[in-house]
Amino acid sequence: KLQEKLDRFQDEFWVPKERLDKIIAHFISELDRGLRDGTDPSGIPMNVAWVMEYPDGSETGDFLALDLGGTNMRVVMVHLLGNHKFTTSQHKYRLPNHIRTTRNRDDLFVFMANCLDKFVKETNPDGVPAGKIFPLGFTFSYPVTQSRIDKGILQRWTKGFDIPGVEGEDAADLMNKEIARQKLPIKIVSLINDTSGTLVASRYTDPLTEMGCIFGTGVNGAYYDRVENITKINGQLEDDIPQKSKMLINCEYGSFDNGHKVLPRTKFDIEIDDESPRPGQQAFEKMTSGYYLGELMRKAMLEGYDEGHLFIDLAKDSEGAKNLHTAYILDTSFLSTLESDETADLSDTEKEFTEKLSIATTLEERYFSKKLASFIGTRAARLSICGISAVCKKMDYKHCHIAADGSVFMKYPYFPERAAQALSDVWGYEGIKMEDHPIQIVRAEDGSGVGAAVIAALSAKRVTKGL
Ligand code: BG6
Ligand code: GLC
Repeated sequence: KLQEKLDRFQDEFWVPKERLDKIIAHFISELDRGLRDGTDPSGIPMNVAWVMEYPDGSETGDFLALDLGGTNMRVVMVHLLGNHKFTTSQHKYRLPNHIRTTRNRDDLFVFMANCLDKFVKETNPDGVPAGKIFPLGFTFSYPVTQSRIDKGILQRWTKGFDIPGVEGEDAADLMNKEIARQKLPIKIVSLINDTSGTLVASRYTDPLTEMGCIFGTGVNGAYYDRVENITKINGQLEDDIPQKSKMLINCEYGSFDNGHKVLPRTKFDIEIDDESPRPGQQAFEKMTSGYYLGELMRKAMLEGYDEGHLFIDLAKDSEGAKNLHTAYILDTSFLSTLESDETADLSDTEKEFTEKLSIATTLEERYFSKKLASFIGTRAARLSICGISAVCKKMDYKHCHIAADGSVFMKYPYFPERAAQALSDVWGYEGIKMEDHPIQIVRAEDGSGVGAAVIAALSAKRVTKGL
């Protein structure tokens, strides 16, 4: 019976090539629609980032970067050396959990400014020279509307953030105000998305890079499109800018298919959406990103338990049963542990169940759970490449590098291989070794801080060119 249940889950979570093709076709039309008008909540915003240059690796300068990611916050000092090289020194600060949903927006901005202050003091033990102002690239990885590179009005929170008083406000302005209040020798010169940062940082060292992607707490991608395609900015550009010029676009494609037309949603996906603080938003992200994979796993296991297939000896009033009913009790690391368990009796899995859920398991149940994790993880990886494929098909990129960052890509076992397999299915790479695939997803760890610096340098260049 347990095996039958497993087979059903396998069918439910498997996304065959034909379905990937269909999703990609719809994705392409949604990318185009967002370039004409990104304001429809059922579509993809395709946010214009106002970066119109590609880095060529010659950019130089010293920049601070503040990188608010999904799980961590980093402060980075970046020295761009030119010749495609850079050095960094950085400090990672764990974002206190309560900050994601604090009722007081100052908590977030004060926390970030305090980290900046600490970092500047530590890296300048003799004090900052009088009059010195550090230019800061701010990686703020949420959907923003930008009218220029150093401003960003938050459209809506994603990835479980829910802080009142920031949506509809300029995040750079709120940050600058706190920097000024604390009298820090810092000024924001650019506000960027993590995907844009990942793309630009990789492009600084690798000219084959055409896209930056995050597979982490959230999912998203950025690429350059031709100005002539971005009809929603008609009239907003100087007349002398050629239509063939390129513009960096932060797709915000975590919101792909909010209209629920093509994604193969299971009952669990529908519940996750309904129960989330923002139903109807981030449909693609809710099926693929690290923020939701643990919850998907919990819901699927709970169904197995409720139907009497799984954890048969677990009493209804036990601690374990209570845990199994607790939303978001599991994060993606639970699935990662199960999937990387190579022990004969799945003892790592056993330990994980005891520690995280207080549930004692049989070998058969552990085997079932490991398989279930692999179905959920494989679906995420296969769906994730739809955004990449859509951009590459739309832009006619057949040979390129896709720079990828985020905890899921970096830490989830087999994620890169499964994503490559899905790309291979879609693009017909059978028989070609993964490292020789024409479109390759390459690791770009912690790039977005460097990208923020490169973009800051590019904006400085632009000013001197008088654009
Ligand atoms: C980090 C980048 O490496 O990955 C951040 O520096 C990015 O800019 C983050 O937001 C995404 O990963 P996660 O898993 O923290 O959401
Ligand atoms: C969410 C954010 C987006 C970010 C992504 C990855 O989708 O809205 O801005 O790029 O997560 O961190």
